[in-house]
Parts: sequence; structure tokens; C-alpha cells
Amino acid sequence: MLISFEGIDGCGKSTQARLLAERLEAAGYRTLLVREPGGTELSEHIRQLLLDPALDVDPFAELLLFSAARRQLVVQRIRPALQGGYIVLCDRFYDSTTAYQGGGRQVAELDWLRDFNLRVTAGFTPHRTYWLDVPLEIALNRRRRTTNLDRMEQADAAFFERVRATYARLAAEEPERILRLDATARIETIHETIWTDVQRLLQHGGTHSSGSGSSSRH
Ligand code: TYD
Repeated sequence: MLISFEGIDGCGKSTQARLLAERLEAAGYRTLLVREPGGTELSEHIRQLLLDPALDVDPFAELLLFSAARRQLVVQRIRPALQGGYIVLCDRFYDSTTAYQGGGRQVAELDWLRDFNLRVTAGFTPHRTYWLDVPLEIALNRRRRTTNLDRMEQADAAFFERVRATYARLAAEEPERILRLDATARIETIHETIWTDVQRLLQHGGTHSSGSGSSSRH
């Protein structure tokens, strides 16, 4: 089973991904947690390039770099893990590309990106995507606690409004996959909602991904 976590910077998705990974491990499920961009040697190198505030990166080049990092991660880690019966948790997956490069940078049409993203992932689609939705103001306040903003975080408020609007559009288009969660709620409350949903998914034994749906315990 493949599960992804999405949302604008500062929404708290990394915390939720980690909490779910710990909960699944504790329940005896073999679990792989990866973050994007990253998770392989090549992808971590690409991550450094993408986030470096000193680099000037053309928006379409940015799209290709995020996608290259994802491709390597799918082939090297996600696909083998799914085939081995792991539950794979992705801290961001291709919806980030649709939201940030498609919505935020406006480099490509969403329909084109939908097709492109599936080619990049060799057809792998998350069974479930948790979209941690938070108003921009709250996300910005959370981020102000970090002093050094990376290259992506330096974008203006209008950019992040477009990113958030694109997530909203995706959630409306794919309600059976993308679950919107109110990310202003308490961390534990959000985690319990996710855990209840994941247990239900596990009982139904995976749904519509083209990956090997089955996940097994140790
Ligand atoms: P991330 O490590 O999730 O940053 P944070 O933990 O601060 O949210 O992601 C790095 C940045 O890259 C983030 O600003 C979102 C952006 N991004 C894209 O623009 N496109 C993509 O396809 C991905 C995966 C991330």
C-alpha cells in the first residue's frame, strides 16, 4: 500500500508521516517512510540543487529535476518495497509537482502533468493521499520560526495561494483518493483521524493502485 502526505510548507505533514510510520511499525507492519525530493543518493543530490537559494533554476528545469528525483526513488526504493509487501509512506509525492510546478509556477497544464506524473512513477498512484490543509497565514507563522528559507520557500504569498488552490482542485477531482484534513487541529487529533482511516484501508486490503496492493505484517 502506498500512502502520501501533501500540503504547503509548514502544514505539518512530515510530523504526521512520522507518527503514522511509528504507529504502523508498532502494530507490526513493515513500513518504509521516504521524503521527496530525496530518499536515494541521486535524489538527495537533486534535493540540494533544488533547494539552494543561490541557484537560478528555470521553472521547467525545476519540474524535470523534481521528477527525476521521484523517478529514481520509485525505481530504487518504492517499487521494491511495494513488491515486498511493505506499506510505503511518502512525505510528498507527485501531487506536489502538480500543485507547486503546475499551480504555483504555472509551467504546464494540469492535464498534461497528470499524464507526465504517471509516466514518471511507472504508473504508481497512492491508495490514499492525506492533504493537510492549512490557511497560508498559519503556515507562514509556523515557518517564521525557521531562520533560513530554502529556494522554494522564498516564493511569494500568491505562489502559495495558487499551490493551495491546486491541492483543493485535485481533492475535488479525486475525492476517493485525496482526503482533506484540517491541519489547524491538534497533532494528536489529526493523527487519530489518519490512523482510523488507515486501519479501514488495511482491512479492505488496498484498493486501486497499479502497484502490488498487498501489505503484510512481519
Ligand atoms: P519538503 O522537504 O517537503 O519541505 P518542507 O518539509 O519544508 O515542506 O519539500 C521541499 C520543497 O520542495 C517544498 O517547498 C515543496 C517543494 N516541492 C515541489 O515544488 N515539487 C515537488 O514535486 C516536490 C516533491 C516538492
